[in-house]
Amino acid sequence: MDALGIDIGGSGIKGAPVDVRAGELSAERLRVVTPRPAEPGPVADAVAGIVRHFGWTGPVGVTFPGVVVDGVVRTAANMHEAWVGVDAGALFGGATVLNDADAAGTAEMTYGKGRGQRGVVLMLTFGTGIGSALFVDGVLVPNTELGHLKLHGADAEHRASDRAREEHDLSWPDWAARVEEYLRHVEMLFTPSLIVIGGGVSKKADKFLPHIHLDTPVIPAALRNQAGIIGAARSAVHGE
Ligand code: BGC
Repeated sequence: MDALGIDIGGSGIKGAPVDVRAGELSAERLRVVTPRPAEPGPVADAVAGIVRHFGWTGPVGVTFPGVVVDGVVRTAANMHEAWVGVDAGALFGGATVLNDADAAGTAEMTYGKGRGQRGVVLMLTFGTGIGSALFVDGVLVPNTELGHLKLHGADAEHRASDRAREEHDLSWPDWAARVEEYLRHVEMLFTPSLIVIGGGVSKKADKFLPHIHLDTPVIPAALRNQAGIIGAARSAVHGE
């Protein structure tokens, strides 16, 4: 069955129809720039534009980069604060809405590197922020917000996200050192059996993963930055 998956990020909004059985895009994705300020109205217009572009009338799943409970946005660290309290499911015309990292992690557990992995598996996405998705025997614990763990008195995502790498003009080894410190902290707290690195930066894994040394295996996501779209579409069909 096909569903339309839409992934809302701090810089771009990406959508594509997805073959949910195979976990693959069934048409070329469309990307539009996230409106600034990223207020609910303009973002909803962009989402509606993507739905129209594909002439879509079937199920739609949408990711949001914040805490989402029953379709209602609770936090929006990298979007406009006007989102807090908004029923995004209703705003997006009855779409299924879930946290972006939870969507990406679910896709990775279903179709990618996490398939069949038992125990505690952690997916961490490095982009504008740091997103987290925690799985126990393949079951998601939704809305973990491990990007906001404090490191040196500041949100970890302000030091170690991909945006922090760009803003502070860090070399790959320097950024990798920050990521390693963050991963060690997370490892100490959760003792995962596997850490999967996702987000846009996962396609450049060869530049930073060789610099990261941890007891826990750390691997790049298989679905790269399509995981959010695929996970969103999947949740529109199967629920979380
Ligand atoms: C948000 C998370 C989100 C992550 C990645 C964080 O700032 O609080 O909900 O998953 O960014 O977009």
